[in-house]
Amino acid sequence: MSLTALEARLVDRFGRVHDDLRLSITDRCNLRCVYCMTEDQVFRPRDELLTAAEIQRVGAVARALGVRSVRITGGEPLVRADVVDIVAGLAAQGFEDVALTTNGTRLEKLAAPLAEAGLRRVNVSCDSLRPDRFPTIRRRGRLEAVLGAMEAAEAAGLQPVKVNVVLMAGVNDDEVLDFAELARRTGRVVRFIEFMPLDAPGSWRPDHVVPTATVLETIGARWPLEEVRDPADPAPAERFRFADGGGEIGAISSVTRPFCATCNRLRVTADGAVRNCLFSDDERPLRRLLREGASDEQLAGVLVGAVEAKRAGHGIGEPTFIRSRRSMSMIGG
Ligand code: 5AD
Ligand code: SF4
Repeated sequence: MSLTALEARLVDRFGRVHDDLRLSITDRCNLRCVYCMTEDQVFRPRDELLTAAEIQRVGAVARALGVRSVRITGGEPLVRADVVDIVAGLAAQGFEDVALTTNGTRLEKLAAPLAEAGLRRVNVSCDSLRPDRFPTIRRRGRLEAVLGAMEAAEAAGLQPVKVNVVLMAGVNDDEVLDFAELARRTGRVVRFIEFMPLDAPGSWRPDHVVPTATVLETIGARWPLEEVRDPADPAPAERFRFADGGGEIGAISSVTRPFCATCNRLRVTADGAVRNCLFSDDERPLRRLLREGASDEQLAGVLVGAVEAKRAGHGIGEPTFIRSRRSMSMIGG
């Protein structure tokens, strides 16, 4: 049976169709954000990461199973020397959308080659607009370079740039209006992300989370907001536009308003395991299969099995919730 004959689509027990693949291509990063890594983070040996060719095979199998969009994540995907080739290969496979999430430190140089390779969009993480505060959250890096990278992305046609802001109570939640103002001034879609229990240091506590309701209240009091409803857009972000037409913001409320019921995502970790949820340690290794010459059908079976086993929701906040053994940089955000 050829792969194209495989009719099985990635539909789970709850009827959720999985057409969005998140591919973490490395666990490495040149920053050490406090909500993600420890200062002395240890990375995986390189031979445990999927090669570019292995990533293309996983992409092809996912494509054949009905996946329509791919997001490349990390770690920091732009620290991988072959990232432009990886993007080009995936773009050539006919996905409707190939996007990438980056910390922006290397984007200034890479924006144009990535766009040429077929990248459609980028999300740039940026958690403070204060040059002195920025490195206290990210432990390295400079704000100016990340802002410059957003401009380079726009110049290369990777538009609109989305800006990912992880809010932490008492750390950067006093910048909500500054970020809203950035959205209004630049047309970038600023997305406020609730801090999730996926930090390697394990310091997450419920009271560190800045609930989306608070963020919306703060912004709405200054610039009234209207919800944007787009049934064609399965993104987990709730979208809001400024009522005066001044742009758009988003909110990713994994903790206070989970969107599990409409989750369409499947993940492949940097070391080549299929994972059906950020918060579930149900992982099914692909790397060994890939290296032992498995057929496309065998690989497809692993993806289908992962989707079939997916739970209804992540259960953060419930007494039975267990933290994942792996942190965000390994799983891919
Ligand atoms: N909680 C919420 N978001 C996180 N990210 C990394 N770690 C966490 C966490 N613990 C974000 C990054 C990036 C995206 C991939 O996930 O800032 O924007
Ligand atoms: Fe690196 Fe992104 Fe993790 Fe920050 S959040 S340490 S930029 S992988």
